[in-house]
Amino acid sequence: MELGMKLCGFDLVAWRGFIYAIFILNFVFCCQLILLQPLVAATDGKPGDSAALFERVSQSIKVKRYSEALAELNAAIEADPTLSEAYWHRASLLRQLCRYEESEESYKKFLKMKPGNSAAEKELSQLHQALNALDSANNLFDSGDFTKALEYIEKVVLVFSPACSKAKLLKARSLIATKDYSSAISETGYILKEDEDNLEALLLRGRAYYYLADHDVATRHYQKGLRLDPEHGELKKAYFGLKNLLKKTKSAEDNASKGKLRLAVEEYKAALAFDPNHSAHNVHLHLGLCKVLVKLGRGKDAVTSCTEVLEIDGDLVEALVQRGEAKLLVEDWEGAVADLKSAAEKSPQDMNIREALMRAERSLKLSQRKDWYKILGVSKTASMSEIKKAYKKLALQWHPDKNVDNSEEAEAKFREIAAAYEILGDEENRTRYDSGEDIDEMGMGSGGAGFNPFGGGGQQFTFHFEGGFPGGFGGFHF
Ligand SMILES: *[C@@H]1O[C@H](CO)[C@@H](O)[C@H](O)[C@H]1NC(C)=O
Ligand SMILES: *[C@@H]1O[C@H](CO)[C@@H](O)[C@H](O)[C@H]1NC(C)=O
Ligand SMILES: *[C@@H]1O[C@H](CO)[C@@H](O)[C@H](O)[C@H]1NC(C)=O
Repeated sequence: MELGMKLCGFDLVAWRGFIYAIFILNFVFCCQLILLQPLVAATDGKPGDSAALFERVSQSIKVKRYSEALAELNAAIEADPTLSEAYWHRASLLRQLCRYEESEESYKKFLKMKPGNSAAEKELSQLHQALNALDSANNLFDSGDFTKALEYIEKVVLVFSPACSKAKLLKARSLIATKDYSSAISETGYILKEDEDNLEALLLRGRAYYYLADHDVATRHYQKGLRLDPEHGELKKAYFGLKNLLKKTKSAEDNASKGKLRLAVEEYKAALAFDPNHSAHNVHLHLGLCKVLVKLGRGKDAVTSCTEVLEIDGDLVEALVQRGEAKLLVEDWEGAVADLKSAAEKSPQDMNIREALMRAERSLKLSQRKDWYKILGVSKTASMSEIKKAYKKLALQWHPDKNVDNSEEAEAKFREIAAAYEILGDEENRTRYDSGEDIDEMGMGSGGAGFNPFGGGGQQFTFHFEGGFPGGFGGFHF
């Protein structure tokens, strides 16, 4: 335009002497040039402008300002509905945002203008792949196959639609469902970086922190979401659920520490009912409950609670110790020794554990003694005459002379019965036995020969019936 002005000026000066008509003509020409200039420039500048537009759009997309990019493309299309490239750019942007319906429409418009454009056709088919994969991922999530859902999202949906927040949120949900909480935290972190008020991202990030038992950070996320939308159902549920869980937990712990054991049991159970999935917190609740149950002497329930703890964290020494104690209560001596032994191995300096282990080992040893009462078929409170009577009866029954067909079995039985009577038939021996003394070894003397009341090896054993039964039934004959 400037050039035109100069030309005009020069013409005007140079041709000043020319005839009026020529001057007029020239003037008109110049004016036409000046007037037409913008139109000419606009037409010429069109490819340049759209190139600049697409450059701006791709810059906006690069810095994730998708709505800016979209607005610019929409405006360009409105200004010039024949601008085919803009449809394509818009289709591609909408595909990235997984706004598949609008995207498809835009692709189709472009392809109507440029039929057979293979690149656009390829993108359209990728759109369909992404759309189907997102559908599949949703269905897989609903049916509980979270790993497969993640595969669809990561390998298809987010490849063709990297800005799809629906898919990212579904990914975060799936990650939480697979207990990959730290990945869920980073995924929701990306979403919130682009959209800090995304309520679902706030909810899911809070939930991931919650499952890591980082309850303060979880609460802050829920609170931020609720400030934006106080009526958000899931956020409300999460926030108040956590608040109540912490309240119940405190009440359980307070009752336990004040010795209100029965109340504590109820409170622990109520706290555990809040969220069975919250292992990181429930592990402490189960342990607290186990301890209280041990104190209450409820061995069986305590074993169950401590087993829950150890299923979450098999290395928790305290849980091994408590379960050991609980097993002592239910007279599972071997189980108690096993638990306390592994606790002692993990915590070799702990004297309390060693002491408990020794107790358990002693109980186990005692339990492995012969039960002489059982052998004589009498109760632990049987009177001396009942014991004598039982002994006589059994000795008659198993007398080897009367059991020629099964002499081996009869000899063994007979020997056992005699041994039982040696202990139970003597007040002092019986008292020592009842008090848990290791009477067999002490009494037997001869190198701990087990339970053979006659000492030595069984093979050398011979009966001396004439001499009466052990225990002084001299006059008793068969
Ligand atoms: C526990 O996790 C399962 C599987 O992810 C889920 O279906 C269930 O709703 C969760 N329960 C709670 C109380 O969150
Ligand atoms: C014990 O539990 C009851 C509920 O059963 C609760 O009201 C009370 O505050 C608790 N006590 C303590 C000391 O926390
Ligand atoms: C007491 O038991 C021991 C060992 O079994 C035995 O040798 C001893 O004869 C018993 N005493 C009496 C009086 O029976």
